[in-house]
Amino acid sequence: MASLLSVRDLKTSFFTREGEVQSVRGVSFTVEKGEMVGIVGESGSGKSVAAKSLIRLIQPPGKIVGGEVTLQGTDTLRLPEEELRKLRGNRVAMIFQDPMTSLNPVVKVGAQLTEVIRRHQKLGRKAARLRAIELLREVGIPSPEKRIDQYPHEFSGGMRQRVMIAMAISCRPELLIADEPTTALDVTIQAQILDLMKNLCDTTGTSVLLITHDLGVVAQVCTRVVVMYGGLVMEEGPVEAIFETPRHPYTQGLLRSIPKTGGGSREKLVPIEGTPPNLLDPPPGCPFMERCPHAMEKCLRLPPYYEAQPGHRSLCWLAEMPGSRDSGSAPQAADTKRKEGDS
Ligand SMILES: Nc1ncnc2c1ncn2[C@@H]1O[C@H](COP(=O)(O)OP(=O)(O)OP(=O)(O)O)[C@@H](O)[C@H]1O
Ligand SMILES: [Mg+2]
Repeated sequence: MASLLSVRDLKTSFFTREGEVQSVRGVSFTVEKGEMVGIVGESGSGKSVAAKSLIRLIQPPGKIVGGEVTLQGTDTLRLPEEELRKLRGNRVAMIFQDPMTSLNPVVKVGAQLTEVIRRHQKLGRKAARLRAIELLREVGIPSPEKRIDQYPHEFSGGMRQRVMIAMAISCRPELLIADEPTTALDVTIQAQILDLMKNLCDTTGTSVLLITHDLGVVAQVCTRVVVMYGGLVMEEGPVEAIFETPRHPYTQGLLRSIPKTGGGSREKLVPIEGTPPNLLDPPPGCPFMERCPHAMEKCLRLPPYYEAQPGHRSLCWLAEMPGSRDSGSAPQAADTKRKEGDS
């Protein structure tokens, strides 16, 4: 069965005065219906640019320079502008880190929510208001009949993010793209918002693409993880595989740099030394080479993807070394599509 979202060899650059910043350099992944997929990676790895590219939210001097994005049969990169506008907010919704910048501070929450509802659904004022109350209740806002007539500043950060989620899901999108939706919130609220998204995913069948630099967040709710670095997917796999048998030294580094959730383990946290590559002039080989403890001459060339298990692949030469559990698995060229049928 075809995936809900299929991204193939996506490339997005910013044409600045200094030159072409190659933010996304050939990214491929899929999202299935009702699935929650995480995109993780350090700051600057290209997560947000990749996510925005999916619905062409890239502003000049940014430009999508290659690839294919298919959302249930719709080729979003080639869709006429008008149809694309309909798709945004209808079939695909996006929420961002700071809900204060997305909500209008001088308009009551209810008015903003009903406006979104009416933009996409043919509902009268009253019906839209009722629907708005129902949505606020659905996202766990207490006394929604009262809250609907309040202004954004009367809501806490967590409650504002709930409002944003209510807006995003008001049209029952097929895909919800959430870019660092909980980063600004404290840990308890963060967990509640993530649970809420997971529940929505389970009950409505909406798929979620969750972008975060926090692997703990991913472990909590995602089924699959895409690890990005230097504009490329370094590793992708089921969440258990990524946490238990990470293949890429970059993923291993990321895991060593986060506190273990629960368990009370006192393992020392080790940050990854060094800085990400300059995407104005990215190295032709592995972008992690400079920081990698296993770097070898071969890494000057970009490896192909190696599949450790179906659906678990990594972009690293180590996978073909003798002794690696991967050895013998069929390599795939870095710029070729994932094998059909491994979804
Ligand atoms: N408008 C722009 N002009 C030039 N370069 C840009 C622009 N927007 C993004 N970039 C570059 O693209 C690269 C990827 O940026 P992106 O915002 O996708 O990173 P990210 O992974 O989302 O990081 P973060 O975790 O900090 O949000 C960065 O090197 C960034 O400098
Ligand atoms: Mg970002």
